[in-house]
Amino acid sequence: MSDSLQAKHGRIELVLGNIVEQAVDAIVNAANTKLAGGGGVDGAIHRAAGPKLLEECLRLPADEEGRRCPTGDVRVTGAGNLPARYVIHAVGPVYNERYADKARRQLREVHERALAAAAAKGCRSVAFPAISTGAYRFPLGEAAPIALAAAQEHLRQATSVQLVRFVLFSPPQLEVFRAALKALAGPEGV
Ligand code: APR
Repeated sequence: MSDSLQAKHGRIELVLGNIVEQAVDAIVNAANTKLAGGGGVDGAIHRAAGPKLLEECLRLPADEEGRRCPTGDVRVTGAGNLPARYVIHAVGPVYNERYADKARRQLREVHERALAAAAAKGCRSVAFPAISTGAYRFPLGEAAPIALAAAQEHLRQATSVQLVRFVLFSPPQLEVFRAALKALAGPEGV
């Protein structure tokens, strides 16, 4: 089964691994609206990047409740000690079955915006975790096709981004993304 899909302007790739180890131009963080760190991917990224990352996040403007980025949107910082140049902090939706349509829309949007932000910085390679599928409880089988379709759509336009890598944290997660990538490639496969 293929772990990559060639789109018009670039390639989508799936790997099993840790987002903090990716030597790409930008890694995407599954952040929260405060951008003040957290658990999961967010915690791992802040630990590996060192204190400079948090300092940079806290310098971003916040509203009166301390929110620096609304749900569905992104903010870009440097990457501290990480091998990447930028961290794109992406706030995915908290999944709620009653508002599943809204969550799906916001998940799509956050991927689109992360890719647009990467392109605005001239990035050639971007690595994503499976945003919202941990603490935010978005079902992985629903999230994978949304994330992959957003990447495919971005790579249909002229963009600096040539590689969109999804970094899955466990073999079962990788399998779910593989099945979604296969479905995206269509009956011909690519
Ligand atoms: N590399 C790649 N993937 C990882 C890593 C890692 N180092 N650590 C965890 N994951 C996977 C999880 O298995 C999950 O599938 O990333 C996915 C996203 O999980 P979370 O990190 O919990 O992100 P999310 O569901 O978007 O929740 C965001 O969690 O701690 C916080 O501050 C963060 O409040 C925010 C919330």
